[in-house]
Amino acid sequence: MNYFHYKDKELYCENIPVKQIASKVKTPFYLYSSATLTHNFNAFDKAFSGHPHLICFAVKANSNLTVLNLLGELGAGADIVSGGELHRALKAGIPAGKIVYSGVGKTEKEIREAAKADILMFNVESMEELDAISRQARRLKCRIRISFRVNPDVNANTHPYISTGLKKNKFGLPMSQALKAYKIASKRNELDVVGIDCHIGSQLIQVEPFVDAIRRIKFLLRELDDFGIKLDFIDIGGGLGIKYQDEIPPQPDAYAQALLSEINDLSHCLIIEPGRSIVGNAGILVTKILYTKDTGEKRFYIVDAAMNDLARPSLYEAYHEIIPVIKTDTHLHTTDIVGPICETGDFLARERPMPDLNQGSLLAVMSAGAYGFSMSSNYNSRPRVPEVMVRDDQFKVIRKRETYARLLLGETIW
Ligand code: LLP
Repeated sequence: MNYFHYKDKELYCENIPVKQIASKVKTPFYLYSSATLTHNFNAFDKAFSGHPHLICFAVKANSNLTVLNLLGELGAGADIVSGGELHRALKAGIPAGKIVYSGVGKTEKEIREAAKADILMFNVESMEELDAISRQARRLKCRIRISFRVNPDVNANTHPYISTGLKKNKFGLPMSQALKAYKIASKRNELDVVGIDCHIGSQLIQVEPFVDAIRRIKFLLRELDDFGIKLDFIDIGGGLGIKYQDEIPPQPDAYAQALLSEINDLSHCLIIEPGRSIVGNAGILVTKILYTKDTGEKRFYIVDAAMNDLARPSLYEAYHEIIPVIKTDTHLHTTDIVGPICETGDFLARERPMPDLNQGSLLAVMSAGAYGFSMSSNYNSRPRVPEVMVRDDQFKVIRKRETYARLLLGETIW
């Protein structure tokens, strides 16, 4: 469900033609639909409404202030992985009491900042990190709430780069070390041991791995109970997939039901950390064909967006649907859609059946709202593109296109 649709032959975002926005903002740009974001968040919230829960949006998927603010207003918390993300989440108005901090390499400075802000909890991934958190708590003379991220060793059946819950991955504590870790932490006065956490991977299109993970967590909870360690939160991470091509991911309802049926006898607050499934299909990347070229061997559309703007195709060979902003009825030809960057790996799509389009035509790269702008870079000294939000028949640039001056910010000639 999203609010990008054709009216006659023209692509709209909610109630504005995409072309109209392109003529004002110029290409390339990211375009987000607030109605889609709202719909997606509310679908999760409703699906989990039968159980105490907190939806901590994974800021890494899209860290734009307006996006975070909108989700915060709807009741979202945040899952953060850096001091920068903490800064953004707080600036966007997300209450510290709804922020969880994940990640294997939190620095002491980052730990101190988050502790000072009094976030809900740290998801601790190693015993040395636990020591660092203890040190900061003693230094700040406060108690810090923690949970351990455990690695349930389940196969998420997803791309190896975004699978995180296997023993060989760097994330979390092995289940076999978790009990000992909890015993150590619960003896420390400066720590409040409140939860258990896992995150098994991203773009999962089955519920079974989540169910497997939660069963393993329940097993550990019973063991902890035997030692008098009682927790308030079960954080199952994020990872629910979306449809990019022909995947059929579970809807939030089915996902919630599968999880809740495992824990409905427990009173713990369930935390989920969805990123992609909230923001993925709420955003597109709009780009223009600069040149068309036929080498005899291949047809190319050379567009003004590149791998620095949307890294997913180059990095993971990820599929994003690409559609013309103005539909045509011409024959389809196999085409590569490539950017201006000087690397063969700079493509948005390969061997794609595309209609005949002229220089200057606009294309929409679909499902680009998650890990799109947030993974963009300045490679080839390309200013990062603007982000635009639509609300019904209005739009606003919520992040300006970078200028050349901004590209050089902080640099000196020495
Ligand atoms: N929680 C933790 C601890 C995570 O590491 C992640 C994602 C999430 C939540 C959110 O997962 P989601 O619901 O979005 O699947 N750049 C890759 C995805 C990397 C995901 C990393 N962790 C991509 O473009 O596919």
